[in-house]
Amino acid sequence: MEIKYELAKTLKEKPADESKLGFGHIFTDHMFIMNYDIGEGWHDARIVPYGDISLSPAAMCLHYGQEIFEGLKAYRTAEGKIQLFRPDENFKRMNVSNERMVIPKINEQDAMEALMALLNVEKDWVPYSEGASLYIRPFIIATDPYVGVRPADHYMFMIILSPSGAYYSTGLNPVKIYVESNYVRAVRGGTGFAKTAANYAISLAGQDEAHKQDYEQVLWLDGVERKYVEEVGSMNIFFVIDGEIITPALTGSVLSGITRKSAIEICRSKGYTVTERKITIQEVAEAYDAGKLDEVFGTGTAAVISPVGHLKWEDKIMEINDNKIGQISQMLYDTMTGIQWGKIPDEFGWIVEVK
Ligand code: COI
Repeated sequence: MEIKYELAKTLKEKPADESKLGFGHIFTDHMFIMNYDIGEGWHDARIVPYGDISLSPAAMCLHYGQEIFEGLKAYRTAEGKIQLFRPDENFKRMNVSNERMVIPKINEQDAMEALMALLNVEKDWVPYSEGASLYIRPFIIATDPYVGVRPADHYMFMIILSPSGAYYSTGLNPVKIYVESNYVRAVRGGTGFAKTAANYAISLAGQDEAHKQDYEQVLWLDGVERKYVEEVGSMNIFFVIDGEIITPALTGSVLSGITRKSAIEICRSKGYTVTERKITIQEVAEAYDAGKLDEVFGTGTAAVISPVGHLKWEDKIMEINDNKIGQISQMLYDTMTGIQWGKIPDEFGWIVEVK
């Protein structure tokens, strides 16, 4: 793929204090753009200065949400290498989301080439401090100026980069999660498995309610019976009950998380049993009452491994593992971040170096 370069004339100042990056506020000097026009396919791959884009107010993505996105990170190792964690999985999933949202597929190798080219230009933006990384957000939007409802004929694929710290301000300290019994996030046959804007827009009312009650995030139940645990929205969820690691099966309404998949593979490689199955919130509560709910944790690219210390389901409050990080959560966090930052050998072959 041919990529054209238009480099920024002046570069922004990089954040001086990486401990204050937060998540997703700061953007680098450049971005990648490629267009799609029906009959022509994806074309005009280019790296340009980061900045506002011009869109018709009638652009279809603004009205009917025909959009998909991904999230991954670039890490700087102590030796100064820059590396990615399973990026091929992100571009593969991007096409799964594209298919669901009737967006033309991308060539996964081209997308990888685009990302590598952009990272080469923006290498200096990859944070140096432990725990901070360069969050990568590839996304596609429908751009036709048309307010009728149909799949668009024109699209933009973009990649933007944001140096970021921990997703939750609590860092590795356990988060407080509220089980949502009123609103639902997804139903089977819907878009729950796709990484599309609507799934996140739909979650805001529940999240707002959770915030009002001093909870960080919402744990979603299935949209039909409202009894099976699904996911948190920014992460997948795991329970350790009586030594068994359980995570909801991917039944169509849950996002197929790359950190979820990696956590399962790490646990299995260390001899733990991981079961992917349906699990009701009632079962979680009963395990808690029986003193068998050992750990709860979330997994996600942004969140990494996030222990859950407090779970509220209607009037029931569950304080998990004395609100401390559990043994399996800690092992997963150490292994995952160890591989990502190059502190431990990558025996799984997940790391791709940016050269
Ligand atoms: C990610 O973990 O990359 C996500 O997409 C979650 C979120 C920031 C929406």
